[in-house]
Amino acid sequence: MPGYPLVAIRSFIEATRDSGYKSTSSAIAELVDNAFEADADLVDVAIADDGDGAKRVSVTDNGTGMPAGTMQLALQFGGSTRFNSRRGTGRYGMGLPNGSLSQARRVDVYSWTNPHNIWSSYLDVDEIASGALDGVPPPVRFKPGRAAEYPASPTGTTVVLTKCDRLDYRTVRALVKRLNTDLGRIFRHRLYEGKFLKINEEPVKPTDPLFFREGNNLVGAVPYGPPLVYDVCPTGTGGTPTQITVRFAVLPLEEWHSMSNDEKNRHGISKGAGVSVIRAGREIDYGWYFMGTKRKENYDDWWRCEIAFPPDLDELFGVTHTKQKVNPTEALNSILVPDLERIARELNALVRKRYFAVREEGKRFRSESVAEDRDHLMQPLRVHGTSAARLVKLGQNGSRLGYMIDEKTLNALSFYVPSLVGDNLKVVLNRDHNFYQKVYRPLFGAERVEPALVLEHLQLLLLAAARAECGLRSRVEKEMAERLREAWSNVLTAFLG
Ligand SMILES: Nc1ncnc2c1ncn2[C@@H]1O[C@H](COP(=O)(O)OP(=O)(O)OP(=O)(O)O)[C@@H](O)[C@H]1O
Ligand SMILES: [Mg+2]
Repeated sequence: MPGYPLVAIRSFIEATRDSGYKSTSSAIAELVDNAFEADADLVDVAIADDGDGAKRVSVTDNGTGMPAGTMQLALQFGGSTRFNSRRGTGRYGMGLPNGSLSQARRVDVYSWTNPHNIWSSYLDVDEIASGALDGVPPPVRFKPGRAAEYPASPTGTTVVLTKCDRLDYRTVRALVKRLNTDLGRIFRHRLYEGKFLKINEEPVKPTDPLFFREGNNLVGAVPYGPPLVYDVCPTGTGGTPTQITVRFAVLPLEEWHSMSNDEKNRHGISKGAGVSVIRAGREIDYGWYFMGTKRKENYDDWWRCEIAFPPDLDELFGVTHTKQKVNPTEALNSILVPDLERIARELNALVRKRYFAVREEGKRFRSESVAEDRDHLMQPLRVHGTSAARLVKLGQNGSRLGYMIDEKTLNALSFYVPSLVGDNLKVVLNRDHNFYQKVYRPLFGAERVEPALVLEHLQLLLLAAARAECGLRSRVEKEMAERLREAWSNVLTAFLG
């Protein structure tokens, strides 16, 4: 019985163009995947202006090439020579048509298993919309018109995107730059293996977000412990266990922390916190995954994580046909989160400690320098001399009082404890006090600060002091408190200048 065609082809094509590649890079990555999977060791991406501001993107490889029958399958949505295979990257039969048409209204494929016999076919969204095309056109022989069109390799494939209406950037330059960074990261493991990727004749260098290996990035991170390896059975198959491998890297904070924000951005240090997820040797996602209730903080920029898994575990990781995102299942979270959250907290604490240690060695808070510079405006403090146990007046003989803010876990009720050590006035903040945890620490390393919240905290600090003072009973205590308040106010006047 003849029925309706299963797919309403015209609307399907328009709808599937929106099916969710998050960037031009992830769409092009599908074509690069196919090339590497066809055993190419050279993939050449070319982006050019086609006139009228339109762009042409082509991806040429020296892989096995396709015979005519395979080519027709290749352009079909769902057509694959490896449907549901778990041996490599491709398995859905969607990458070539879907990735291409997410960026362009036309895709042409040229492929040759010998250089004198080039087959070609295409898909064209406008022809499909007008009804001129309702299937994959049977491949035809392509005769190169110009010498430059002859293949450079004995076997291979070229995919050409034209009528590109959905590229992320309008200029060739911006596109090349973006693709260079993204593809260098996405395919870094292929590049380390010796594969070669070019964009507009420039070799793409690998980018290691873990800062271990040489490439288009700084190097200098060290592993945090040996890799964790989990034996996991693919869901539903009861098949042989396969492995998830997790590695952590700690960045050389002492060396790199003094870079400007600009430099940190440029080198991918700032805002780089997270996990690089590697499926079948290529990155499919980067994000804050498997960290349980631990929220991302700026300190977390200083360590990285990479999780590698084989396609047998796609169901567990929630991989879909666009291969650019994971949607971890509960089962996966229950395997990874307990360890990863604990280690994330350890690393955060380690970074924090090293950050403070570095700060003490060299760079100082501005407040400490301001206090030091203005100290001479006040009566000198009498302190014990450092060399001999005698009283000296600081401010005389050029000596001056040093100011220092430190933090410790103090077994005390006070939120800070002052002390004079040698020529230094030290304020130790109590890490166990709410003031440290709720007011001071969140301000540390924060990129943006909510002024209303800071004002509220300042007011609460004053109200707390006032409440404590008003709670004093005896006259002596009240007088002492008043004296302290006046002295504090005078010093504040001097410090604020
Ligand atoms: N560059 C290429 N060289 C050789 N064969 C290719 C190339 N690109 C695509 N193919 C063939 O076309 C088929 C379809 O490719 P497509 O990317 O659409 O699906 P897939 O790679 O099988 O699966 P996925 O959707 O997961 O990428 C492939 O199975 C492969 O046989
Ligand atoms: Mg593919």
